[in-house]
Amino acid sequence: MMSEQVFTLTIKPAEDSQLDLLEEEFSPDTLSKSHYKRYDVQKRGEGVYLIAWHDHTPVGHFLLRWSGPDDARVMKYVDVTHSAFLEAGATSVAYRRKGIATALIREAERLARAKGCTQIGLSVGSTDNPDAKRLYEKLGYVDWGHGEFLISWEYIDTHGNRGTESEVVTYMHKRL
Ligand SMILES: CC(C)(COP(=O)(O)OP(=O)(O)OC[C@H]1O[C@@H](n2cnc3c(N)ncnc32)[C@H](O)[C@@H]1OP(=O)(O)O)[C@@H](O)C(=O)NCCC(=O)NCCS
Repeated sequence: MMSEQVFTLTIKPAEDSQLDLLEEEFSPDTLSKSHYKRYDVQKRGEGVYLIAWHDHTPVGHFLLRWSGPDDARVMKYVDVTHSAFLEAGATSVAYRRKGIATALIREAERLARAKGCTQIGLSVGSTDNPDAKRLYEKLGYVDWGHGEFLISWEYIDTHGNRGTESEVVTYMHKRL
């Protein structure tokens, strides 16, 4: 079955005036300021933080980097300087299975191609995220064939406590 969009979806790079709204809508349970950090990547010219909007409501996001990831295990096999990298993708629960992630990824691929990237890649939970894997496979991404690795990242909860989360992932990629 095809994902069906029965409403108007707009995909645009994030703007600084939207960041508080993005934090409120997507990340009410953390003080990590992830949306600010992703916007900083865009401000430094290292990528684009793409937001999907339904009217004035942000409903999905993906961070596109012009190169990456900066991870020794991937860099051993992939020339990351010619490969765009997708991360931090999510669709609001109420808007899932309507083609939003698909539209965000297609726009990211278009921008990466225009920037001269010849490949695009991403990391996905190797066993704990079959839904996301299915999404990427449907869009033509294939497993890189070099096994799994562990990634970790820091977060700050609403009480200001810091913690670390980690996930076993695999790398998937696609020629642009
Ligand atoms: C993964 C995620 C981003 C998908 O977003 P989405 O907007 O619902 O995706 P789409 O509607 O574009 O889905 C396209 C295809 O992906 C696959 N897919 C997506 N979600 C699926 C699910 N829950 N179950 C099975 N297949 C799924 C399907 O093949 C789907 O096509 P179909 O609906 O025509 O069958 C969303 O589920 C999400 O935010 N998950 C939590 C965060 C996350 O895991 N992010 C990815 C980290 S790598």
